[in-house]
Amino acid sequence: MLLFVCLGNICRSPTAEGVMRRLVADAGLDDRIAIDSAGTGGWHVGAPPDERATETARRRGTTLEGAARRVAPEDFEAFDLILAMDRENLDDLRALAPDEEARAKVRLLREYDPASKGAPDLDVPDPYYGGPTGFDVVLDQVEAACRGLLDDVR
Ligand code: 4NP
Repeated sequence: MLLFVCLGNICRSPTAEGVMRRLVADAGLDDRIAIDSAGTGGWHVGAPPDERATETARRRGTTLEGAARRVAPEDFEAFDLILAMDRENLDDLRALAPDEEARAKVRLLREYDPASKGAPDLDVPDPYYGGPTGFDVVLDQVEAACRGLLDDVR
């Protein structure tokens, strides 16, 4: 069980969820690996993924779906691995985690990108207030990291 987490749950984490669903389905593992996403913030609860994120993903063969929700304490119980998009998400998640075992489930997504090994900055930058190219950067980074994540979990 994998949970992808960003701030709003409308741009980066739904993108990671959609990319990972596609990779897992292509690998024939969709009945073995459950995938969800959530946000540390509550502003967009109930909203569908951002239109710019959805369009960028669609162009690249990935479907985004779902409604934004906020991370809940039960998530630390239900999921095996909680993938944060940036260090702020990581810090917020670690602060929310009820115990040490839960804290150990929280990792930065890009730690799983073999090409990022040793890089000082493993954040997936927040594209919300930037231009359209930010969404392609998110797709590139998320795709590379999710491929590494799939290799790691399989
Ligand atoms: P996300 O992007 O965390 O990738 O979903 C954001 C979406 C909305 C806001 C911030 C980031 N916001 O401040 O409303």
